[in-house]
Amino acid sequence: MKNTVIINKEFVLGAIEKDVWGSFIEHMGRAVYDGIYEPAHPLADEQGFRKDVMDAVRALHVPKVRYPGGNFLSGYDWRDGIGKDRPVRLDLAWGQLETNEVGLHEFCGWAEKVGAEVMMSVNMGTGTPKDAAQLVEYCNHEKGTAISDLRRRNGREKPFGIKTWCIGNEMDGDWQICALTAEEYGRKAAETAKMMRWVDKDIELVVCGSSTPDQKTYPAWDRIVLQHTYDYVDYLSMHRYYTYPDDTQNVGDFLSSHTDFDAFIKTVAATADYVKGYKRSKKRMKISVDEWNVWHTKPAPNRVDVHNDCDEARWTVGARRLENIYDLADALTMAGMACTLINNADRVKMGCLAQLVNVIAPIFTEVGGGMSKQTIYYPYAMAIAHAKGVALRTVVCGEKMESCYGDSEKVYTACAYEDGTYALFAINKTAEEQICDLDFQVTPVRMTERTQLTGKLHDYNCLEAPERIVPQKVAAEGKAERLHTVRLPAYSFTLLCFAEEK
Ligand code: AHR
Repeated sequence: MKNTVIINKEFVLGAIEKDVWGSFIEHMGRAVYDGIYEPAHPLADEQGFRKDVMDAVRALHVPKVRYPGGNFLSGYDWRDGIGKDRPVRLDLAWGQLETNEVGLHEFCGWAEKVGAEVMMSVNMGTGTPKDAAQLVEYCNHEKGTAISDLRRRNGREKPFGIKTWCIGNEMDGDWQICALTAEEYGRKAAETAKMMRWVDKDIELVVCGSSTPDQKTYPAWDRIVLQHTYDYVDYLSMHRYYTYPDDTQNVGDFLSSHTDFDAFIKTVAATADYVKGYKRSKKRMKISVDEWNVWHTKPAPNRVDVHNDCDEARWTVGARRLENIYDLADALTMAGMACTLINNADRVKMGCLAQLVNVIAPIFTEVGGGMSKQTIYYPYAMAIAHAKGVALRTVVCGEKMESCYGDSEKVYTACAYEDGTYALFAINKTAEEQICDLDFQVTPVRMTERTQLTGKLHDYNCLEAPERIVPQKVAAEGKAERLHTVRLPAYSFTLLCFAEEK
């Protein structure tokens, strides 16, 4: 099949912020306990954190990690995770025990070791505006108050200096501890935001938008919440996970999830712009897609492990929850979502792949054992490394494919441009090879790198076979030309780098 892809460096969509490629660690399942933290593991450091996991996270260059939840957040008291006495609590969100062995200081220490900033979240379920403001004070106020001096006594003299703060999590969901209506949440979030910013004027704030377009309240929720909070916050959050849309397990539908994701982002942006107009505001609300990924909740023939049942191992610590073993189809779908973030770079300024370790995650560990990189690790790593600078709008001329989300490209693309270098991402969503004529229109370019992720659609990586699906480097052509022809293998994700001649 033949396609033409037009890439023109004048077609700038917007700056790609590095924070779009953040991730997320929640106190749940084996993300923290028996994930990043396993003091009895032979590779644990003096604080109990696994060095092999830290190496894998460091190698990714994850810019920011959202913490400590997720649904867990809405029942969490940050004071339980500081000082010497750490109470064991029931975590009502996931039916697990929270030992509080890992809390604020420990997590911020881990984040410093892996070179990531912390994106902290404040509890809007059982928590109050005062709890939230005092957490900002504890983290960011230098000294001389009871709360900042408590931090110093707890071993951290300098403030943590946390810049980005989420005001609650998915407060529209009836699964949320103390869920709120849009009016209730909007009012509470506005008052909380005011207090938090009065403590530290330099922080940036993220307000909860609709957790999913499946919520009945979507998109009115976003409008109402923003009507209350528009002047006080910097980002509106959205969350999105994809699985096969129905039991037929149609791969074409699944790989076309990016079409639906794009529509979701554009609707949320339009809703925010409505409020901007309504308020005669000059501010353009940024979007934080602070949970996105593939998440299968049901076992399927090609799926080896989902562990979605939270009644399993009730009131224990570090049980398997929300563990997905990802295959190539999952990696391609997730890569499509990453391309959609690039293609909406004008609005999406922050993001978190949910999550980072064990729980629906690119990094998978065994207790006392090894660590493997899941298939989705690689598109994530490729995006962090190459999707920077500005996003260019690419145009694909070629046959379309039908899907339950509407017609969409057989080859889905996104392109980043920085300092004379193009990084073109291309997903072949079909079972046949796709030939693409790339037309750079403005300048001749030389191909400098070609890396592709492909293989059998339902192959996955595991500890016994960690490299079934890994990126392969293919020889890149050396000539500077305006037109290049590339062949994309069936079911593949390809990164093509090109440099302008100086
Ligand atoms: O990431 C897993 C869960 O998904 C989070 O706790 C919640 O915010 C979302 O529903």
